[in-house]
Amino acid sequence: MKTTISILGSGTVGRTLAGKFSEKGYQVIIGTRNPDETLSRAGENSFGDWYKLQQCIEVKTFQGAVQEGTIIINALNGNHTLDVLKSCDPSRFSGKIVMDISNPLDFSKGFPPTLLAGLNNTNSLGEAIQQLLPEAKVVKTLNTMWCGLMLNPTLIPGNNHINFICGNDIDSKAKVMALLNDFGWNSNQHIDLGDITAARGTEGYLLLWTRVYGATKNGAFNIAIEKV
Ligand SMILES: NC(=O)c1ccc[n+]([C@@H]2O[C@H](COP(=O)([O-])OP(=O)(O)OC[C@H]3O[C@@H](n4cnc5c(N)ncnc54)[C@H](OP(=O)(O)O)[C@@H]3O)[C@@H](O)[C@H]2O)c1
Repeated sequence: MKTTISILGSGTVGRTLAGKFSEKGYQVIIGTRNPDETLSRAGENSFGDWYKLQQCIEVKTFQGAVQEGTIIINALNGNHTLDVLKSCDPSRFSGKIVMDISNPLDFSKGFPPTLLAGLNNTNSLGEAIQQLLPEAKVVKTLNTMWCGLMLNPTLIPGNNHINFICGNDIDSKAKVMALLNDFGWNSNQHIDLGDITAARGTEGYLLLWTRVYGATKNGAFNIAIEKV
């Protein structure tokens, strides 16, 4: 049976991942609030114009996408992730891998962002999602890099940069790593940080990521670990 990847999020990240998974032959569904309205968006960098170039990606409501996905990817705005997931029946996530790529960024006071209140330091969005969906297997990954690298790691010469991964279920983390390796990641590029509480660290890193981006005006970079 074909794996259906349901991506919650019609933004740049959702679209970038949807295109790559679809190219690889996966059945892909994008979840959005109102499919007709999303499809009608026109103009530069709009969903509607992007969608016209796609062959077989489906667009459904968030609830429809969750219902049909084998693997769910959360590529939602961090501010709205928990409300959207609450609006989908939590039982629909039961036993499914939820790859969480989102970050709890608060841009309400402009750039650089802060981390959303209540989702930092002693908590994280990854943990809040796992708590909301106790029967899902939440795997936090890819959130520390620009979306153009997520499924195209060989863009960085040498391809020795790092992807962090964390989550409570070891088997699901292994499945996610295998899925990513199909796109050019190597097993030694993934650092398993342990359970989902490690999302505090990977989400907190965005405070530095956004400062580097602000200073260099270039988001196409990633972490490599050099040892003595
Ligand atoms: N940009 C990157 O390279 C990058 C890298 C790593 C991680 N991330 C993280 O990936 C996530 C997605 O980023 P993005 O830039 O692609 O998209 P985004 O603009 O942050 O979020 C777009 C999605 O959020 C939904 N949304 C927005 N407002 C909403 C509301 N009031 N109620 C319900 N849903 C709402 C939109 O729904 P509709 O579909 O209905 O419009 C859309 O699906 C973010 O958490 C971001 O921090 C981004």
